[in-house]
Amino acid sequence: MRKPIIAGNWKMNKTPAEAAALVNELKPLVADAGCDVVVCVPAVDIAAVKEAAAGSNIKVGAQNVHWAKSGAYTGELSADMLVAAGVEYVVIGHSERRQYFGETDQTVNQRVLAAVAAGLKVILCVGEMKDVREAGATDGLVDYQTIMALNGLSAEQVADVIVAYEPVWAIGTGLTATDEQANETIGVIRKAIARKYGQECADKVRIQYGGSMNPKNVKGLMAQPEIDGGLIGGASLKAADFSLVVNYDK
Ligand code: 13P
Repeated sequence: MRKPIIAGNWKMNKTPAEAAALVNELKPLVADAGCDVVVCVPAVDIAAVKEAAAGSNIKVGAQNVHWAKSGAYTGELSADMLVAAGVEYVVIGHSERRQYFGETDQTVNQRVLAAVAAGLKVILCVGEMKDVREAGATDGLVDYQTIMALNGLSAEQVADVIVAYEPVWAIGTGLTATDEQANETIGVIRKAIARKYGQECADKVRIQYGGSMNPKNVKGLMAQPEIDGGLIGGASLKAADFSLVVNYDK
């Protein structure tokens, strides 16, 4: 059985003081969660969130990582820096980074390899744009994105990676993939992993859905057999909403 994992992706929201306040509000509300609970926060918020989350079941994630150990990469953060700051998870390959910041399947792969080597738990994002779904090319695309991103990892390492299937047309739009669409495409991702790394590995990989997931639609999505959790944007910014998503099974 795969343990469900619900992660908030705060994107570019919250100052350190606001971040600490949100985590303090969240702590008692998610203390009895049956799933892993993670918040992926802006880099400047990591210290404040680590302090606020200390002793709780809330784990801390970052939103990106560079592949080099150190060097002349203005604006970037290394995996070792994140680990030293107490970060356990890192989002890699989010569609906003692919769309707005030139992230490619190759740079996503480099980031994944560096993060895994440093002991970070990767939340790898894949997903199609609207035109790709309309053209009937979704399955091929998510298969390709997944295989390219994980290239160079062993089956043992892949088993620990968390994949987030985020259809780009469902992000921040209020449009959600239907339960069946999400389940089916996540099944495609799992098959791709099984083909290359074996069924045993694929059965261990946790695959989240992301894209306008909220307190209203979480139950239906989580009832699907392939869906092991959620990556939550907008609804992770309010303690009341995020805790309802985390406690979807209550
Ligand atoms: P929304 O939940 O705001 O649609 O964002 C989803 C997302 O991109 C999480 O990474």
